[in-house]
Amino acid sequence: MAKETPRLMTKNNSDQPIVLNTAHFLKMKESGEKISMITAYDYAMAKCFAASEADLILVGDSLGMVVLGYDNTLQVTLDDMIHHSKAVRRGAPDSFIITDMPYLSYHLEIRESKANAARIMVEGRANAVKLEGGSASRIEAIKAIVDCEIPVCAHIGLTPQSVNRFGGYKVQGKTAAAHEIIFQEALSVEAAGAFMLVLEGIPELLGQEISQAVKIPTIGIGAGRYTDGQVLVCNDLLGYADMRPKFVKSWADLNSVVTNAMNEYSREVKAGSFPSPEYIYYPITNK
Ligand code: KIV
Repeated sequence: MAKETPRLMTKNNSDQPIVLNTAHFLKMKESGEKISMITAYDYAMAKCFAASEADLILVGDSLGMVVLGYDNTLQVTLDDMIHHSKAVRRGAPDSFIITDMPYLSYHLEIRESKANAARIMVEGRANAVKLEGGSASRIEAIKAIVDCEIPVCAHIGLTPQSVNRFGGYKVQGKTAAAHEIIFQEALSVEAAGAFMLVLEGIPELLGQEISQAVKIPTIGIGAGRYTDGQVLVCNDLLGYADMRPKFVKSWADLNSVVTNAMNEYSREVKAGSFPSPEYIYYPITNK
């Protein structure tokens, strides 16, 4: 039988197990403790996350770009998300996992949106789903999914699934009118029952105003310093990516680490120095 949520995780810096559920993240906001969210897409990265001090995992549909090599996130399917969410759960059995609902999985019929969210929870073993947008029909979807007892993280601002409508990945909310629309969307997703809100690609002032106006925690990505937490794509923060938007800081350079290791391995294979005896079962000894 599957373990029940909420799950327990003992943080590295605490003796007390912390009950990881939506209320925990609300308390973090109330106490002014910043929330660190990182994406993960597979078992190995989820294990690294579980050994870290970061607070929660997002199985983002950015996997379409950084893992599957698509130009955008629009081709990612519900089955892709469930497949990766399951792998992440295996690597991080006790972590709080939010899994993205992919493009068109919550835009059409409400019944279908609820069923798709339920598959992510049950088959994908997530603790919550994330969906993009704050328009009237997105609000209806959030309400319906929350009504199925599924926690929803909303995502507004530069929503990558809107790339065709936006005409590219452009910072949103720059004019007074656009600022007001996004601000109102934030209030609406909170009123619809979202427990968390990702703010992407907006001016810092708008990120600050929304974070002060809503009770739910805001998680920024390219939204400045005043959101309640931050999220980054794991490949970006690890320097294991081929793009580097302005808001990305990398704390490692895995591209070079990996290429250098591959070169050293390849050179040793060609030189015949790998495998050396310590890597061989019952090596032949020349007496
Ligand atoms: O898909 C993703 O990784 C995301 C983050 C960029 C917020 O939605």
